[in-house]
Amino acid sequence: MIVANDLRKCFKRPGVRKSAKNSDIVAVDNVSFTADDGSITGLLGPNGAGKSTTLRMLATLVSPDSGTATIDGADVSGDVLAVRKQLGFMPHNAGIYPRLSARENIHYYARLCGLGKQQAQERVGQLIEQLDMKGFADRRAAGFSQGQKTKVALGRALVHRPQTIMLDEPTNGLDVMATRGLREIIRQLAGDGHCILFSSHIMQEVAALCDHIAIISAGRIAMEDTLQGILTRTDQTDLEDAFVQATGSATTEQDV
Ligand SMILES: Nc1ncnc2c1ncn2[C@@H]1O[C@H](COP(=O)(O)OP(=O)(O)OP(=O)(O)O)[C@@H](O)[C@H]1O
Ligand SMILES: [Mg+2]
Repeated sequence: MIVANDLRKCFKRPGVRKSAKNSDIVAVDNVSFTADDGSITGLLGPNGAGKSTTLRMLATLVSPDSGTATIDGADVSGDVLAVRKQLGFMPHNAGIYPRLSARENIHYYARLCGLGKQQAQERVGQLIEQLDMKGFADRRAAGFSQGQKTKVALGRALVHRPQTIMLDEPTNGLDVMATRGLREIIRQLAGDGHCILFSSHIMQEVAALCDHIAIISAGRIAMEDTLQGILTRTDQTDLEDAFVQATGSATTEQDV
């Protein structure tokens, strides 16, 4: 289970003096929400809303300026190793090694996560099957399409069977069949009791998949509830209209 409490993160504006007014970009501004085990939680917001920064703080990759967060009770600032052990994180930019094949990329992570050689081989084989990667599993990753990179990054996030899985815009670059396959995997993982948190700016995706939705806009959580709860609270029948109502903005980015 993920619990975020008043997370805040600012970045310095490049080239602006520290003392200057508005020298900080407030990326995440006192964000609080929860994501339960056995449940799919969507962090829904337009470009620049603070989704990736929030996920990166939860994944211990950047430290919050203030606020706290725990994953299954482990503090993301104080208990970094405990958090990382039980977490699978797929970042926005896949960041895979171009000289390694898809199989080698995932296998390398499996070994880093402590799986034995044989165990790692078996698990990687399973993921290659499950994520439909057989056609390119043994090719070097340099030159992979966006969707192929996304699949490798997803395999890497899942390889050690983590309890908590965070995916930053996981359908990025995936075609219709691959997106459907991914949805199926996410549903199955939640059904098996895993905690799934994913970010998206695509309304239909979040509406179709999530048990729980946290709407984020300009670094703040505008509303957090079930889809039905959000529709009821905003008196709307469609998530897009509810989003506009909740954030008080009709000038959101494309797809939102
Ligand atoms: N390392 C950084 N340095 C400076 N500004 C940053 C940095 N990382 C994020 N930001 C700024 O923080 C804000 C939130 O960015 P973030 O990447 O979290 O948004 P996002 O919701 O993930 O957007 P997208 O949908 O485009 O991925 C943006 O204004 C962004 O420019
Ligand atoms: Mg992002």
